[in-house]
Order: sequence, then structure tokens, then C-alpha cells
Amino acid sequence: MKRFSGKKISTAVFISGKGSNLKNLINFSKKKISPISIDLVFSNNKNAIGLKYAKREKIDILCYENKRFSTLEKKLLRILRERKIKFICLAGFMRILTNYFIKEFKGKIINIHPSLLPKYKGLDTHRRVLENNEFYTGCTVHFVNHKLDSGKIILQKKIKINKKDNIKKLNKRVLLEEHKIYPKAILKVFS
Ligand code: GAR
Repeated sequence: MKRFSGKKISTAVFISGKGSNLKNLINFSKKKISPISIDLVFSNNKNAIGLKYAKREKIDILCYENKRFSTLEKKLLRILRERKIKFICLAGFMRILTNYFIKEFKGKIINIHPSLLPKYKGLDTHRRVLENNEFYTGCTVHFVNHKLDSGKIILQKKIKINKKDNIKKLNKRVLLEEHKIYPKAILKVFS
């Protein structure tokens, strides 16, 4: 993706929970080298803890809770269009976007996932990785397409699993790596 010189790409971040990646992306977006500015945070959960980071930075928040995500996507798309949002980062967003939504932002939605894709798509990755006695795990930033956790990989980081790792420890170690690769992946997308 190309960006016009000097102007940052207006970006929305979608979250559902803790928002440590959102916090990290906000910090990154404020740096001069960042190609993106975060102008909107969308959450499908009004209690998402991560919303506090958006509030603190006075970033506009949009919150729709709806069991059928597809029924609110049209509304969401209209707002994204009105606000001239050009890029979307999913950061712990636990809903599946419909084809209808993805088509409108084709090649402009990226996601972070806590595994070495294509292995361990979906939920509960750390538990499954540990149960399978894997030697390595990691995280992946990828483009979002119509299949779950399956779009083109932008960047990946591999880490060795320690004997003492449990789900909590692994989650913490992988998150640290996520915070390093998400900004790098964004730089790569716009390089
Ligand atoms: C992160 O580990 C992210 O990779 C994962 O949710 C966590 C969100 O943490 N995303 C997925 O599992 C998406 N399939 P955060 O709310 O602290 O950024």
C-alpha cells in the first residue's frame, strides 16, 4: 500500500478485550516513522478493558454489541466511510468479519494471531500448543481474507517453548513478541 508523502493513513483498530496491542499501536502511531494515525477504536464489547487506552488518548470510540455481527456491519461500514478510514488493524478482535465487510476493505485489514500460522488457527492457541508438546510457538501478523486466520502472512516471530511454560506464561511471552512485530508489520505493509 502506498501513502501520500507526509500524511498518515487514517486507521481504525478493532478490539474485544484487554487491548495491550491497542496500547502498543497507539504509542507506535504517535512516532514520526509511523505510517498510520489511529482515528477510531471499534469494540464489539462495551466492557473491553482496552477502551481505556483510547479514552486516555481521546481517540473516538465506537461500540456496538450485537449477537449478529453481520447486522451491524453495514452501519459500521457507513461510519468508516464517513470518517475516511483507510486501514484497519484487528487487535484481539474476537468476531469474524463477513465477506461483505472484507470486500470493501480488500487488502486493507490486518490481524495479529498468537501462533505460528498456518498452525493453530482459531481460539485457545496456547493451550493447544502446550497439549501437543510443541517445541516452538510464536505470533503472526497477516492480511485478513474470507477464511479464518488464513490471509497472506506479513511477519512472524518464532519463540522456543520453555519447560516451565504454562498457558499464562506463554501468553505473556508471546504478547511481548506481538508488541514488537505488529508495528514492524505495519511498516512493512506501507514500505
Ligand atoms: C492477543 O494475543 C492476540 O494475538 C489475540 O488476542 C490477544 C489480544 O490481546 N488474538 C486472537 O486470538 C485473534 N484470533 P490484547 O487484547 O492484550 O491485545
